[in-house]
Amino acid sequence: LKTIVVAGARPNFMKVAPIIRAMRRRADEFTPILVHTGQHYDAQMSDAFLRDLELPEPDVYLGVGSGTHAEQTAAVMTRFEPIVARERPDWVVVVGDVNSTLACALVCAKMCVKVAHVEAGLRSRDRTMPEEINRLLTDQIADLLLTPSPDADENLLREGISPERIKLVGNVMIDSLFENLARAARSNVRERLGLQVGQYIVATLHRPSNVDEPQTLARLLGAFDEIGKALPVIFPAHPRTEARLDEFNLRGCYSAERVRLIEPLGYLDFLQLFSGARLVLTDSGGIQEETTALGIPCLTLRENTERPITVTMGTNKIVGTDRARIVEEASRALTEEIRRAPTRIPLWDGRTADRILDALLEASR
Ligand code: UD1
Repeated sequence: LKTIVVAGARPNFMKVAPIIRAMRRRADEFTPILVHTGQHYDAQMSDAFLRDLELPEPDVYLGVGSGTHAEQTAAVMTRFEPIVARERPDWVVVVGDVNSTLACALVCAKMCVKVAHVEAGLRSRDRTMPEEINRLLTDQIADLLLTPSPDADENLLREGISPERIKLVGNVMIDSLFENLARAARSNVRERLGLQVGQYIVATLHRPSNVDEPQTLARLLGAFDEIGKALPVIFPAHPRTEARLDEFNLRGCYSAERVRLIEPLGYLDFLQLFSGARLVLTDSGGIQEETTALGIPCLTLRENTERPITVTMGTNKIVGTDRARIVEEASRALTEEIRRAPTRIPLWDGRTADRILDALLEASR
């Protein structure tokens, strides 16, 4: 099967890497074409990930860059359409919930080219999140919905999607995680930062709802600063967050010793960093899953999650964005020692990529 696999933004690369690798291994069945939309383009947001994940050079680079949602989505569509017309693939595989995911799925739907959505069915039920719109619409138009967990299947069925389009395959990001643990262990990130295992906290923030509003961002930084009195908070800042700190003049609202702002890390360095953390504070979706897979306590700084299985079966707790609540939950997490044995969620077993390929073959018959 001639298959275009689309990656656009940082959280896509660890999802496409195992798929591309499996397709290359099964070269008698699949001919993959890797398309990078260029939604993320920085060395740290893109190149470092391609390198760390040993992804091949993309066959096609669309170079769309940043912009408003409309600009970015439209640019991906305009540049992706001629590629689909030229290649006429049997399948296009899109992953996750970023603007590139929806844009490419929409192009294919209009051209009657079959689309598979990996990580289908996740729902936060918060339509102010741009990703929720991307998830809902992509799942409506994709031909094959490949889900990570049973809650996703239930969401899709409730939306009236017919069961033949849905296939539970597991979490492909966990394929990347398991595949790279040993290589990540060779990273010297802790030495570089002067940190000991279990003696620091890792924080990440990039959701527009958390960083685009000055009061909210200041409140979260205030919480980090308070928590940082117990253990240093290592804070690799996303470019969006970094820009807001200057725009809102917030660099003074935390102590640089308690909250150590660093540049975004590559995949292996970040994996090595958070896997040795005592606690993780985040608003990322993927990190909720990765901490669950490794048994690291995680507090999610949002009001909801599209990944409830990380709460019911994993190490994740949704704590919102209230300063006092975050500080209280963090201090409880630090004193109670809630680190647990890694939970094995069914099908988060490192073999999802092969199940995705099997599902594509099955759906082609
Ligand atoms: C995007 C995704 C989000 C994902 C996140 C991970 C959507 C709607 N959002 O959000 O789901 O969790 O990526 O990072 O698709 N920038 C750079 N260099 C880059 C990329 C971005 O400097 O390589 C800056 C730009 O100034 C841009 C800002 O970061 O304005 C935000 O980037 P954008 O792609 O708009 O959204 P993200 O916040 O990264």
